[in-house]
Amino acid sequence: MKIQISPSLLSADFSNLERDVRAVTAAGADSLHLDVMDGRFVPNITFGIPVIKRLRDKTDIPLIAHLMIVHPEDILNEFVKIGCDSVVVHVEASTHLHRTLQQIREAGAKAGVALNPHTPLCMIENVMDCLDEILIMSVNPGFGGQAFITSALPKIKAARQMVEQSGRDIDISVDGGVNLETCSLVASAGANVLIAGSYVFDCPTGVDYAINTLREKCES
Ligand code: DX5
Ligand code: ZN
Repeated sequence: MKIQISPSLLSADFSNLERDVRAVTAAGADSLHLDVMDGRFVPNITFGIPVIKRLRDKTDIPLIAHLMIVHPEDILNEFVKIGCDSVVVHVEASTHLHRTLQQIREAGAKAGVALNPHTPLCMIENVMDCLDEILIMSVNPGFGGQAFITSALPKIKAARQMVEQSGRDIDISVDGGVNLETCSLVASAGANVLIAGSYVFDCPTGVDYAINTLREKCES
């Protein structure tokens, strides 16, 4: 399966975002993962619409907004308006998940849903027809650089089975603790999109090396 690498900007240098966005684009990243945090759904605050709007014309790869916010339905259309290609909401933050996913598609973006480590996959079995991406959290959301939670692996496997049974074209992404040790485990469990923050941006040999080694390791 072709593996896509999606660097998470959370670990970039926030005083040099343009430089870092251009660097991962030049290194062949397949998309850019944008962690939007509100200090309520998660105990951290990052960036939002004004910052992403400024970054849109610095890269031509898809922008994925991972909304770790409460009431995502109140504001998600704005993320599509400023050029996000996909919007991912948390199942735990969406009272009317089916409606919210439809709202994303109607706004013109791909619709994704993220599941926290404790959230079972059955929470999304009735929305498969509204989904373009299932994002399995392999850390508790809020911070970069945390250790991979291994119970994500059987969940990825089960998600892959669900997607195959549905016959739909749904990406399975994994977010948190993805590095050179864990990437082949996630890829062989069935994920096709690897989201990596600290491994990519903290790599002492550069983002090119990090992205290439992740890709090579998973595809070998
Ligand atoms: C955590 C974020 C992740 C984070 C991953 O809440 O959703 O995207 O950036 O960081 P690493 O790859 O360092 O675990
Ligand atoms: Zn994320």
